[in-house]
Amino acid sequence: MPDRRVPADPAGRPASVDLWVIPLTGATPAADVLSPTERERAARFRFDRDRARYVAAHGAMRCILGDALGRPPASLAFEVGPLGKPALADHPALHFNLSHSRDLAVLAVTTHGPVGVDVEAALPIPDSVAVAEANFSPAERAALRRLPEAERVAGFHRLWTRKEAYLKAIGTGLSHALDRFTVTSDAAAARVVEIDGDAAAGARWAVAPLVLPSPFVGAVAIRAEGIVLRPQIWPA
Ligand SMILES: CC(C)(COP(=O)(O)OP(=O)(O)OC[C@H]1O[C@@H](n2cnc3c(N)ncnc32)[C@H](O)[C@@H]1OP(=O)(O)O)[C@@H](O)C(=O)NCCC(=O)NCCS
Repeated sequence: MPDRRVPADPAGRPASVDLWVIPLTGATPAADVLSPTERERAARFRFDRDRARYVAAHGAMRCILGDALGRPPASLAFEVGPLGKPALADHPALHFNLSHSRDLAVLAVTTHGPVGVDVEAALPIPDSVAVAEANFSPAERAALRRLPEAERVAGFHRLWTRKEAYLKAIGTGLSHALDRFTVTSDAAAARVVEIDGDAAAGARWAVAPLVLPSPFVGAVAIRAEGIVLRPQIWPA
C-alpha cells in the first residue's frame, strides 16, 4: 500500500524537516503501541525513570511516524542498519532519527533523505578540552582554543551536537572517526566545513541548530542545500 501522507520532496530545494520536541516527564499514554521487542528492552532498564523515558520516547516516535504515514502506530516495523541506525522497514521514503537526553527527546522526520539529530544537556564537562583535543579535527580544536574561556562549554557542545548529528545522518554513529570531518563552532553559522579534506563534500551538507529549552542544545544534519525546520511539540 503506498504511503498516503508522505509527499515527495521536490529536488533542488532545502530539506523540509519536522523537528518534534518530546518532553519525557509526563504520562506515557503511548506505552501500549510498543512492539514486544521494545517492551522487552523497556523491561531491562534497571531504573523506573529510565524505563518511563524509553517508553515515552519510543511511544511518541511510533505515534508521530504512524500519523505521518496514516498507519496505526503499533503496526510499524523497524529495522536497523549495519551500525544500528533504525529505519522504517516498509516505508524507506520516510526518514527519521531520534535523540534523547535526560527528560527530553527530539525526533527529526523528513522525506528528503537520511537525517541525523542530536540533543545534549549543555552542562560543563570537566574534561571537554581533553575530549576535544583527543577526538576533534585540527580546525575544530583550534576554533575551540580561540574561544574565550566563558564560551568554551557552549562551543564544545555546538561542535559535539553538529558532529553527532552528521554521524547519525550517515548512520555510523561514533564508530566513525570524529577527526575526519570539520563542523563550525560558531553560534551563527552551522555547517560542515570539510569531509576527509574535501570542502565541496562538506558543502553538500546542511546543519541547523535546534532551539530547545535550557539546558538543552542540539543540531540536525542532512545532505541538502539547506534546512527548513518545522518545530513541533509532542503531543501536538
Ligand atoms: C548512535 C549513537 C551516536 C547515539 O549516541 P547517544 O548520544 O548516546 O544517543 P542519542 O540519544 O543521540 O541517540 C540514540 C538514538 O539514535 C538512534 N541510533 C542508534 N544507532 C544509530 C546510528 N548508528 N545512527 C543513527 N542513529 C542511531 C536510535 O534511535 C537511538 O535511540 P534508542 O537508543 O532509544 O533506540 C551512539 O550510540 C553510537 O555511536 N553508537 C555506536 C554505533 C556502533 O558502533 N554500532 C555498532 C553496533 S550495532
